[in-house]
This record gives sequence, structure tokens and C-alpha cells, in this order.
Amino acid sequence: MQNKSPGARDTAVARDGGIYLRPMLESDIDERYLSWFRDEEVTRYLESKYITADDALAFLRWGQQTNRRFMYAVCLEDGDLHIGNVKIGDIQPRAMLCDLVTVLGDRNHWGKGYATAAIKLATALAFDVYGIRKLNAGIYSGNIGSLKAYTRAGWLVEAVLYAQYAIAGGFQDKFVISCFNPGHHSVLPSFPLTLPQV
Ligand SMILES: CC(C)(COP(=O)(O)OP(=O)(O)OC[C@H]1O[C@@H](n2cnc3c(N)ncnc32)[C@H](O)[C@@H]1OP(=O)(O)O)[C@@H](O)C(=O)NCCC(=O)NCCS
Repeated sequence: MQNKSPGARDTAVARDGGIYLRPMLESDIDERYLSWFRDEEVTRYLESKYITADDALAFLRWGQQTNRRFMYAVCLEDGDLHIGNVKIGDIQPRAMLCDLVTVLGDRNHWGKGYATAAIKLATALAFDVYGIRKLNAGIYSGNIGSLKAYTRAGWLVEAVLYAQYAIAGGFQDKFVISCFNPGHHSVLPSFPLTLPQV
């Protein structure tokens, strides 16, 4: 399948590991894109399910208007196919922190290291281009692929919240994982922290 956004490859901002990241375009929000959010395998551990084109457009535009959310398309070097997204946002300007969420909607391309590569590239963008101090993600304990991809990309497990998420059939722990900008945090405590001394 061809890239539906001709010329978009030229807007790539980072590339490695067989993929590149480019700013997401309104034309990326097509039927194939919306089908990712109807796929129960893809959305099992996501809040975004069954989104409409209007939802997706409003979400993208809010980021462009506020500069507090940056959406990147993850595309294959070979053929330019758009296989997923990385969201850097929503930025909390005072604390200079935000989430970094990765969704590879095209399941044909899972398990090939593309998420790990995309997370590494987006982490560097968040730190170097947007000046983010600390990145977070909350991951269901059952989402092994995501836990592996983020930790391989250099993220740390900062905390585990017991039975925090409701999921069909019960509850799962929330892994709070983080990545610290070394320009702001050259030394880190070991996690989990102990109680403060009084
Ligand atoms: C999570 C996700 C981003 C991972 O993408 P990916 O490109 O498959 O990730 P990578 O290939 O870089 O790394 C995943 C690793 O976990 C492994 N893995 C995936 N699912 C697994 C499972 N259920 N059990 C054990 N290992 C698993 C993969 O095999 C791979 O390891 P390997 O290289 O040793 O084989 C992708 O599956 C996805 O988009 N899922 C839906 C959305 C989602 O949950 N996003 C995360 C939100 S925090």
C-alpha cells in the first residue's frame, strides 16, 4: 500500500531502525487510520477506542493550535507506509513534562522493533526540540510488548500501582514508566523511593 500523503516523506524529522517520524497530517486520518481504533487487539490497553474522523481531527488540531501536543506519524522507510503514531503531549508547561504514547495500528508490523525505534526517536525529539524534562507513560501490566519496547528504549519503571486499571475480567497493575532528560537530571534516585526522613 502506498503512502497517501505524497511528499510527506520530505518532512521526516528523525529516522532509524527502518522507520521515520514525520508530523502527522490531516490527510493521514482516513478510513484505514480509523479502523486501527476499532481493532480490539490494538485498543485493548488504550483509552482511545472507536474514535471518529471528527474526534481525530479535533485532537490533531488542538495540538497544532496550542503547541502542547505534537503528533508524529510512524512510517516505514521501505515504501513510506504509515503504520502508527507517537504522541508527545499534553505538555505541562510549568513542570515541562508530558506523556509519550505509541500506537502501531497496523498489526502486520508488530514485533519488528519499530515501536522501540519510534520511542527512542520521539524521546530524543521531546528532549532536544521541545525541552521536555521528564516523559511519562502509564502501561497496563498485561501490555508486555509496550513494557518491553519502552524499557528497551531506555525508559525506567518508576512505580507500580497495584490493580489500578479496570479491564475485561478484572484489574491490572499500572506500570508508571518514565524517561528523564539527562540535561536536567544527571543523577537519579533508585526507584521506588523510601519514605522521607523526619
Ligand atoms: C505496544 C506496541 C507499541 C509494541 O510495538 P512493537 O513494534 O511490536 O514493539 P517492538 O517490536 O519494538 O518490541 C516489542 C517486544 O515485545 C514482544 N512482545 C509483544 N507482545 C508480547 C507479548 N504478549 N508477550 C511477550 N512479548 C511480547 C515483541 O515480540 C518484542 O520483543 P522481541 O523483539 O524480543 O520479540 C504495539 O504492540 C502497539 O501499538 N499496541 C497497541 C497500542 C498500545 O498498547 N500502545 C502502548 C500504549 S502505552
